[in-house]
Amino acid sequence: MNSGERPSTPFPQRGRERREALDESKKRILDLTEKERTDATTYDTYDAPMNTKDGGSEKMTSFEATFTRLIPLEKDGLTGFIERRLESKRGGVVVLEVGGPASQAMRDFSPGFLKKSAGITLVDQRDDKQRDTDVAHNHTVIAGDILSKDTDGKVEKWLGEDRVDVMIQRMYAGWQSMPRDPNIIAGELQKYYVLLGEGGLFLGQVPHELSVFVRPWVNMLQREYPDYQAKFEPEDHPYYDVIFLTRYKGAPKNLPMLDSATVKEVSAQGSTVGYWEIQE
Ligand SMILES: C[S@@+](CC[C@H](N)C(=O)[O-])C[C@H]1O[C@@H](n2cnc3c(N)ncnc32)[C@H](O)[C@@H]1O
Repeated sequence: MNSGERPSTPFPQRGRERREALDESKKRILDLTEKERTDATTYDTYDAPMNTKDGGSEKMTSFEATFTRLIPLEKDGLTGFIERRLESKRGGVVVLEVGGPASQAMRDFSPGFLKKSAGITLVDQRDDKQRDTDVAHNHTVIAGDILSKDTDGKVEKWLGEDRVDVMIQRMYAGWQSMPRDPNIIAGELQKYYVLLGEGGLFLGQVPHELSVFVRPWVNMLQREYPDYQAKFEPEDHPYYDVIFLTRYKGAPKNLPMLDSATVKEVSAQGSTVGYWEIQE
């Protein structure tokens, strides 16, 4: 809070507290962008691999380690799971990571499985050699803030007539750049969901603080739209949970969301976990 006071709810819906929550998000995005421009070690985990190699000895947490509680993994790891699920699209598969460069992760797929891939990150930190390798893999790094229209335009241009088959969002500390506003976050989810093609997979991470919305929302999807195969589990991490869903054939054009009365009610009750107060 700019005023130094604790907000009455972590999710203010209107008035000064909400404006302050949005201003904080803008400031945090500018700060993170500046930090990433000047410091290549802003995050512990950045440009992580998809699969856990060598029995998990690598320093950075693989995407597989994050999503393992949601997905029945075999020896061939997360890429193996995705490749089996999308076998019929082999060679035409499009992957988008929201909140990360995704360069390393995309190299874990079998050669020829992907058509193209991209990662959206605040700053493109690659050197020339990394850029050349990405070009050879038809991988694009889109630099920009996911909340900005400018970034939406870049994503649209990259995607063209294609649809996304696999969408991954695991921002970790990057989550603190998001406004503490469930409606804005739901809007972002919707914006990316509509890019998914039929049979597309969505793997996402959310701070525990949002579980007061995400749990009833996933329960609603499980009850009313079982074909989404929606799942919600705590991640093996102190601050985050993970969600999975598929955009099944015949799924609604827009992702069904919690009704606004429930969002208001839950926002007023708040959440016991003060994620946005954690600085790192
Ligand atoms: C901790 S790193 C995680 C990177 C990657 N997902 C991984 O797991 O290796 C956080 C990422 O979120 C990105 N990020 C944070 N806020 C963002 C925003 N508003 N728009 C786009 N990317 C954002 C950062 O630029 C960074 O790439």
